[in-house]
Amino acid sequence: MKIDISEITGILKQQIRQYEGKLDVVRVGQVVEVGDGIARIYGLEGAMAHEMLLFENDIIGEVFNLEENSLAAVIYGDYTKVRESSDVRSTGRLMSVPVGDEVIGRVLTPLCQPLDGGPAIATETTRLLESDAPGIAQRQPVRQPLQTGLKSIDAMIPIGRGQRELIIGDRKTGKTAIALDTIINQKGKNVLCVYVAIGQKDSTIAEVVDILRRHGTLEYTVVIAASAADSAPMQYIAPYAGCAIAEHFMYEKQRDTLCVYDDLSKHAVAYRQMSLLLRRPVGREAYPGDIFYLHSRLLERSVKLSDKLGAGSLTALPIVETLEGQISAYIPTNIISITDGQIYLQRDLFHAGVRPAIDVGVSVSRVGGDAQVQAMKKVAARLRLDLAAYYELLGFARLGTELDPASQRRLERGRRMVELLKQPQFSPLSVGEEVVTILAGSSGLLDDLPVEQISRFATDLLRWLADRYPDLVTEIDKNGKLSDEMVVRLTERITEYKGVFKEAQP
Ligand SMILES: Nc1ncnc2c1ncn2[C@@H]1O[C@H](COP(=O)(O)OP(=O)(O)OP(=O)(O)O)[C@@H](O)[C@H]1O
Ligand SMILES: [Mg+2]
Repeated sequence: MKIDISEITGILKQQIRQYEGKLDVVRVGQVVEVGDGIARIYGLEGAMAHEMLLFENDIIGEVFNLEENSLAAVIYGDYTKVRESSDVRSTGRLMSVPVGDEVIGRVLTPLCQPLDGGPAIATETTRLLESDAPGIAQRQPVRQPLQTGLKSIDAMIPIGRGQRELIIGDRKTGKTAIALDTIINQKGKNVLCVYVAIGQKDSTIAEVVDILRRHGTLEYTVVIAASAADSAPMQYIAPYAGCAIAEHFMYEKQRDTLCVYDDLSKHAVAYRQMSLLLRRPVGREAYPGDIFYLHSRLLERSVKLSDKLGAGSLTALPIVETLEGQISAYIPTNIISITDGQIYLQRDLFHAGVRPAIDVGVSVSRVGGDAQVQAMKKVAARLRLDLAAYYELLGFARLGTELDPASQRRLERGRRMVELLKQPQFSPLSVGEEVVTILAGSSGLLDDLPVEQISRFATDLLRWLADRYPDLVTEIDKNGKLSDEMVVRLTERITEYKGVFKEAQP
């Protein structure tokens, strides 16, 4: 019999190829110690930093400390189910979340497991929790406004699409309220919203979800929640999960997105707890040294993308809670320096009934000015300075200093402007309505009305205009322009209504 060597080598080669194909390396290690959401693992030498791990019972973990003989990983989810000496498999992948249209309208954990009783998220598409922030070539300047529907913010601290604006203030000063009103105001504006709750009470989160649902915002909103009852690692990844979801819609669907992180003080505390358990060295206020990096790598992902990349945007509204108004504490100053401005809410103003309790002296928007529509710019140009001057004068007036008539007039005008800028929750205004309201005050037309009637006048005026001259407001809404001729017409109408309003008073 003749042996064909090439046939044999062919068969051998084929078998070798198949052998390699079947080889599927699964690296398995053992848990040597577990507690407080942290596991020490032996036998996973080749693991990467931040690699995703699989414990028994499908519990997910992430590699944090790579040490000489072992590694330390955090456990997401129920760590009580992870036992010592159980197996851990490495996945060769970094942490990611499922993304896609399915997540819209849902309330989810940071790992995208349902919290609302709905079906599990069954999408093949995933996105890395952490990804590099776009570079300068991929960005374009922030120019389009993101209307909050709150007149004081849109007029004085305008927010642009792609901006990062911090909401900062003591506890119970209306921080969450501003974020929620902003989300409510995005209805019909084609902005996808993500609300990330970090370390809040379950009852508070339930309330927020209820508000979002009642106002019909869930059609375009995703809620990611890690409550105070969840483990520190879960709270730690929550904002990254929210950001990844928003990024998906921005990069893949060219959408404008808004991400609220409520709040990053609790996020920092969760990370501190995690780092201490991981035995990392501590820095100021016992926070680990990379706490600044933690927040900057999150907030740097906010962007207005270049036209080449589809011109989507990610606007971030991080929230920070201060103690006794201390904005110079460690975490607040860190985040103030990372963001493009801050809305500072003051407890005294809040209790005095000035709500939203914005301290105009300390609140700024560093890029939003370019994003204001012309009509708003025109009426609001002097508002900030006037109000700041008013608060200064108020200090003197309280001391009993005699004021000259000009200062007296400014004081009266300021009082009316403060009154005019008050706004109850859940009643966002359109740009046109905001412009008309501010014009009424700054033109001095309200100077002869009693201060306590201003608020009612403002709401009644808008209703009357919508009824009698609806074109005026809708025209501003539509093209964002306010000509001198329009100002004259509006002034006439406001004066006309003032007559009607005065007559109706007892
Ligand atoms: N513009 C407003 N007008 C009237 N009430 C308001 C306004 N804004 C907020 N509130 C009320 O003030 C309370 C505190 O508001 P909110 O929960 O938004 O504050 P917070 O600063 O987020 O509080 P926390 O520190 O608990 O997170 C709520 O009961 C809310 O309804
Ligand atoms: Mg809150």
